[in-house]
Amino acid sequence: MGAGPAPNPPPDRNGTDPSGLDLSHRKAEHVKVVLGKDVDGRYRYWNDIRLVHNALPEVDFADIDTTVTLFGKTLKAPLVITGMTGGFPDAAKINDNLARAAAEVGIAMGVGSERAAILKGQYPESYSTVARHPVPLTFANIGAPQIIAQSPGDPVVGVEEARGAMKLIGADVLAVHLNFLQEMVQPEGDRHAKGCLDRIGDLAKAFPVLAKETGAGISQSVAQRLLAKGVRGFDVSGTGGTSFAAVEHYRALERGATREARVGEVYWDWGIPSPASVRETVPLGLPVIASGGIRSGLDVARALALGATAAGTAAGILRAASVSYEATKAELEQFVYELRVAMFLCGARTVPEMHRAPYVVTGETRAWLGR
Ligand SMILES: Cc1cc2nc3c(=O)[nH]c(=O)nc-3n(C[C@H](O)[C@H](O)[C@H](O)COP(=O)(O)O)c2cc1C
Repeated sequence: MGAGPAPNPPPDRNGTDPSGLDLSHRKAEHVKVVLGKDVDGRYRYWNDIRLVHNALPEVDFADIDTTVTLFGKTLKAPLVITGMTGGFPDAAKINDNLARAAAEVGIAMGVGSERAAILKGQYPESYSTVARHPVPLTFANIGAPQIIAQSPGDPVVGVEEARGAMKLIGADVLAVHLNFLQEMVQPEGDRHAKGCLDRIGDLAKAFPVLAKETGAGISQSVAQRLLAKGVRGFDVSGTGGTSFAAVEHYRALERGATREARVGEVYWDWGIPSPASVRETVPLGLPVIASGGIRSGLDVARALALGATAAGTAAGILRAASVSYEATKAELEQFVYELRVAMFLCGARTVPEMHRAPYVVTGETRAWLGR
């Protein structure tokens, strides 16, 4: 992505990691690694969900209706671009391409962690560009490690800072991401996790909060604890798609951080498979966004059959978003078209009908669903 050095961010613990990289570089490196390396999980769990073909659909393809309501907003398709980026110059173009395309296709989108913009004032325009487009549903984004102090005197994202994150993009919902696997592989990672749940509860009193993982999934017991604190929905982001252990493995390698590079390799596939995480969270009755490895409209249909309200993709749209708005829109339309094909072949005219579509679970996922 050719992100050059950011213009002089102040060098302190929150702005600069021990090797001298600032946070805006870190977000740029994530994009670069995901575009340049194979960092997907080694097993494709979504392929284990086999929808049962309906040889007599008794519905016309033209009548397939993919409309869905999520957090009170109407989407033309049950699709979310989950939070990825912001905080460095090239991110503005990526987020602008995503937002313009999401608005035209009528789907939801989130931005990446807004920590740098909120706490350091870095590149706010790389996020706020989203507000220029009529995206039907948007998610602000902050990380759970940032809502508690990582060391004495550290700036923390509290209710006011989170309000700023929401205002910056005109967000409808605040996504709080859980990324402790990633933190454990980052040489500069945050190691404190105690107290996050209560702080999520404080945020959930002020805003609609979506609890979001980042590639390791949410179990039923974690979802129950979050539900008790007032969160309004889950983005499961399970294992099988982008592995942040893998992403951080490559970053650690580049910097000679041998221990973390090895940890990243060992934990490459750590986590709860995305389809299993959907099945664990759906019974709680809140909206569930199925994500982690969603790479086609067929995967979206599989997620709906498991009971998800919508499906989310990040790496599945990043390449197109790094090229142009036109490429992004075409890719999103491809997803929606493929979803419509799956619905047709299942005889499901609407999303609620797709929720009732029969399926068979095979492979490793079968063992997870029986746990
Ligand atoms: C380049 C990149 C950057 C990401 N940054 C964030 C982030 O800042 N905040 C967040 O909640 N998730 C972030 N994610 C995680 C995604 O939202 C998603 O949960 C995860 O990548 C799994 O989805 P996928 O397999 O479709 O990529 C990022 C993903 C990618 C690919």
